[in-house]
Amino acid sequence: MFNQAFAGTLPIQGSDVATHWDVLYNFLLAVSAVFLVLVAGAMAQFAYKYRWKAGRKVSTFTGSHTLEAIFVAVPTVLLLVIFAWGYALYREQVQAPTDAMEIRVIAKQWLFQFQYDNGKSTLGEVFVPLNRPVKLIMTSEDVLHSFFIPNFRVKQDIVPGMYTSVWFEAKVPGKHQVFCTEYCGTSHSGMMAKVVALTDQQWKDWNAGKALGPIPEAGRELTQLDIEAAQKVTLSQTGTLSEQGKVHYETKGCTACHSIDGTTKVGPTLKGLYGSKVGLTDGATVSADDAYLKESIELPMKRVVKGFQPSMPTFQGVLKETEINALIAYIKSLK
Ligand code: CUA
Repeated sequence: MFNQAFAGTLPIQGSDVATHWDVLYNFLLAVSAVFLVLVAGAMAQFAYKYRWKAGRKVSTFTGSHTLEAIFVAVPTVLLLVIFAWGYALYREQVQAPTDAMEIRVIAKQWLFQFQYDNGKSTLGEVFVPLNRPVKLIMTSEDVLHSFFIPNFRVKQDIVPGMYTSVWFEAKVPGKHQVFCTEYCGTSHSGMMAKVVALTDQQWKDWNAGKALGPIPEAGRELTQLDIEAAQKVTLSQTGTLSEQGKVHYETKGCTACHSIDGTTKVGPTLKGLYGSKVGLTDGATVSADDAYLKESIELPMKRVVKGFQPSMPTFQGVLKETEINALIAYIKSLK
């Protein structure tokens, strides 16, 4: 009943940990509500009962050991219960089962990359099987980031130079939103990802490299956006080279910093870039041809465009040669 009353205020419960966490959260809320009524009620009652009246004397009061014992014992027991409960839940939240499937996460300004044991690698979406514990082992290529999955009620900082981990067992199929929750620069708010929890059949298909078809947001019906997203995946394999490049531009993290309409964001716009003369920070000028574009994608620090910070991460090894070719074809089309 309590959960229903607050339905909509918390994200869906995508894992057992989320359910357990919500029970504790609701318990704390209920305890707070009870004490709010008790304390505020007593205040109101006393204010009325002992209000000023002409001729009323102040009464003397010498204390009560019974009341004091109750005031000490009840909160102490309550706090110990909350501590023990919270500690048990914390352990459950941070200690991954030993048989958990491991996936590596690399965070960088401003995207998440995922590496699987089978050698696959994805950007912006991490594919996991339903009802199996998954442990993410995470590190950063640049600054502090944080990996937060509201549906699973888990969050963990990602720190350059070390590994941190977070684990979950998805119980609801579909896409679960991920946010970066550590301010990491200009496009921090755009640094998002999805945990895509797959059914047994979908998991087999994904591992076999088959197309998955539209996948809805977890706990929701399929929408037009989901269908379009699935069509994009098909387009990224079957469309023209430039169409494939457009899909990569939209899904590999380029949009965070590069516009296609002439607007200057963190990085230069891609509109009219191909074939143009580009001034560099060292005073030199370079022609934006295929070779320069490829270098800028793979080794962006080598020749930085004048007026911009060297903040782009390397995509060497992240993008395949075929994907870089498609991206260049797309940039070429942006006259
Ligand atoms: Cu990465 Cu905020």
